[in-house]
Amino acid sequence: MSVIRSIVTGSGSYLPERILTNDDLAKMVDTSDEWIVQRTGIKQRHIAAEGQVTSDLALEAAKGALASAGLEASDIDTIILATATPDNTFPASAVTVQAKLGITHGCAFDVHAVCSGFVYALTTADAYIRAGIAKKCLVIGAETFSRLLDWEDRTTCVLFGDGAGAVVLEAAEGEGLNSDRGILTSHLRSDGRHKEKLFVDGGPSATQTVGHLRMEGREVFKHAVGMITDVIEDAYKATGLSSDDLNWFIPHQANKRIIDASAKKLGIAPEKVVTTVHLHGNTSAASIPLALDTAVKDGRVKRNDLVMLEAMGGGFTWGSVLLRV
Ligand code: ACO
Repeated sequence: MSVIRSIVTGSGSYLPERILTNDDLAKMVDTSDEWIVQRTGIKQRHIAAEGQVTSDLALEAAKGALASAGLEASDIDTIILATATPDNTFPASAVTVQAKLGITHGCAFDVHAVCSGFVYALTTADAYIRAGIAKKCLVIGAETFSRLLDWEDRTTCVLFGDGAGAVVLEAAEGEGLNSDRGILTSHLRSDGRHKEKLFVDGGPSATQTVGHLRMEGREVFKHAVGMITDVIEDAYKATGLSSDDLNWFIPHQANKRIIDASAKKLGIAPEKVVTTVHLHGNTSAASIPLALDTAVKDGRVKRNDLVMLEAMGGGFTWGSVLLRV
C-alpha cells in the first residue's frame, strides 16, 4: 500500500558563541561544578549575545538544515518553530525566520509546548505533510532560555542554556511498513494539572511582564521517567517494534540522570543513547534537534537508522516520535 511519509532530509544546529561554565556560575550563585555535574551531567551552557534573539539562532540552524538537505529557502512551503522564548509576544518568531530567509509564500507559525516543543512541531509537520497541506517543511526548535532565568536562583539558573536545531521534513512515498524511511509513529500527551511544577511567573495576559522560570525540580524529576517511558511504549505498541530494534535513542537533553533512568527502564543499551546535555544544558525545544544534528554530523546516525525521539516538559507536556532516518 502506498502511503505518504515525512522524511528527514537535512539537519542543522547553532549554539551562541559565549560559553558559561559551571565554574563561571559558581562565581554568581552558591553552587559548584561538582554539584551540577553530579545532579545533571551539565558542564557548560551557551548564552545568546546581547541583541541576539531566538529567530537569529533559529535562522542559523535553518540554514544548516537547508544546506544539508540540498534545498534553497524558496523550496520550503511551511515553517514550524517550537519555542517558549519568542522574540516578541507576537508575531510568531517563525514568521520572522521566514522573512529572514526571504520566503514570501507558504505559511509559518510557532508551536508552544516548552521542552516538548520539537516533538509537537515534528508531529504537526508530519500531519500537514500526510494531509497534503505541506510538501517541504522546516521544523525548528530554538530558545533563549537565558532571558527567562532568575540568575539569583541556583536551583534553576544552572540547568538551562540557549541554542537552536532544525530539520527539513519532506513528503515521500512509503509502503506503510516499518522499513519505510520517515516518521513511523508519534504520540503526544499533556496534563495541565501539573502547571505549578514548572512554569514562568509572567506573561502578557497575567502580569504584562515576561517573568522568570520557576520549578519544583524534585517533582519534575519524579514524573519525568514514567511519562517518557509511557509514550515510548505507545510507539512500540503502534508499530510492534521494541527497544532492541532501535539504532539510536535521542531524548530531550534536560538532565543526564533522567536520560539514563529512562533508557534503563526501557532496556535501551547505553551505547545507543545520544547525550549532548553536558555541552549545552537544557535548551528546551532546541535540545532534540541539537542532539540529532550532532549525531548525524559525527557519523553515528546514518540513513535507514531507526531513531526514537522523546521529550517531557512544562505543562506537563510529553511525547515521542519514532522515525527511520
Ligand atoms: N548548587 C548547589 N546546591 C544546590 C543547587 C545548586 N545549583 N540547587 C539546589 N541545591 C541544593 C538545594 O538547596 C538542596 O539543599 P538542602 O538539602 O540544604 O535544602 C540540595 O541541593 C538538594 O536539592 P534538591 O532539589 O533535592 O536536589 P535534587 O537532587 O532533586 O536535584 C535537580 C535538583 C537537579 C533540579 C533535580 O531535581 C532535577 O534534575 N529535576 C528535574 C528538573 C529538570 O530537568 N527540569 C527541566 C525542565 S523539565 C524537563 O526538561 C524534563
